[in-house]
Amino acid sequence: MAFDFATPVERRHPGAGLQHGGPSNRPSNWPSQKWHRYGEEVLPLWVADMDFISPPAVLEALRARVDHGVFGYGLVPDSLRETLCAWSERHYGWPIEPDWQLWLPGVVPALHLASLALTEPGDGVLTVTPIYPPFLQVAERTGRTPQQAAMAEPAAPGEPWRLDLAALEAAITPRTRLLLWCHPHNPTGRVWRRDELAGLAELVERHGLYVVSDELHCDLLLEEGARHVPLAVAFPELAARTLTLWAPSKTFNLAGLTTACAVIPDATLRRRFAAAIKGLVPDGNVLGLVAAEAAYGQGDPWRQALLEVLRNHRRALAERVARWPGVTMSAPESTYLAWLDLRESPALAGEDSPQRALLERAGVALSDGADFGWPGFARLNFGTTATQLEAALARLDGVLGG
Ligand SMILES: Cc1ncc(COP(=O)(O)O)c(C=O)c1O
Repeated sequence: MAFDFATPVERRHPGAGLQHGGPSNRPSNWPSQKWHRYGEEVLPLWVADMDFISPPAVLEALRARVDHGVFGYGLVPDSLRETLCAWSERHYGWPIEPDWQLWLPGVVPALHLASLALTEPGDGVLTVTPIYPPFLQVAERTGRTPQQAAMAEPAAPGEPWRLDLAALEAAITPRTRLLLWCHPHNPTGRVWRRDELAGLAELVERHGLYVVSDELHCDLLLEEGARHVPLAVAFPELAARTLTLWAPSKTFNLAGLTTACAVIPDATLRRRFAAAIKGLVPDGNVLGLVAAEAAYGQGDPWRQALLEVLRNHRRALAERVARWPGVTMSAPESTYLAWLDLRESPALAGEDSPQRALLERAGVALSDGADFGWPGFARLNFGTTATQLEAALARLDGVLGG
């Protein structure tokens, strides 16, 4: 079946052409973070959602649910639990159980909840930088001590970012209790290899840490035939201390339906987490749960087609970056985010924030590397139509080109 990833979808004025039934149906009442944070003229390649319509099977399931018309409190359907079990077994070779799953209203809430549930006030919560910005705020927001270890920058332009095990170990103190880990990694797009993770696993065990493995981008591995290996599968000895986070939100573009899942094999850990979060988060989003089941159950052909589109976009971007003096990028191995090193760009010399400079001078909104703990970089979201991407790259050419 052919899916349409080419026709631009109007997100700035989303209701254009629709028949409007009333004020809540006005396009101005459907704003998106991506398209409405900056001015009308700005092309947004920042926040991590895509400009693609979700899989047809998801839309169909949502329409049927909306037609039911009653949106009272729901329950997580057994069929959704079974569907995720089947997805996990098929795609990761991990036979999880239905009752290992705690469905939650998002991955970022889960990071915070894990900190509250698994650590005490003042304990250290560790992460590696650069990192998706909310990771950097979890410790402080939950009354814990933030701890960070820097990754190793690419040995040469275009080489991969690496985990710096020595830096990670140096950041661990007797108070460290929890590691917030991102696998695959946002923003570098790294897909960690087993030999890299082995050192991490050894540290985690030796220091008795809990791990939250945020695997939100794991269904978007870009290499042909690549297969995600959850941390808890690569190192079964870690499974009892690991909380694995998955969601259909990045893969199937459902972030606004606020639905994610924590997979916790260890019964004691699961009970502890469940008890600590009671009352802090709403019950499942009834539309999000329906969408998740349709996505995991029927969305794979769409996902395969999406991966092909993203590979093409990654190639187009890499060709462009190669033409921008002083700008480098390690090709992302997963997802639709590219991490650009802009520190040596002569066009941006003297600029405090390359992100701001590109916003003002090119009219393209990227994510600021400083927010990820790494100034001088910017993250570019290529999860958009080829037309939109090309328009943004042409604008960037105008500033960054030689
Ligand atoms: C690694 C990672 N974790 C979490 C999130 C956000 O997840 P949620 O919207 O479910 O809170 C993102 C969004 O970009 C992400 O990239």
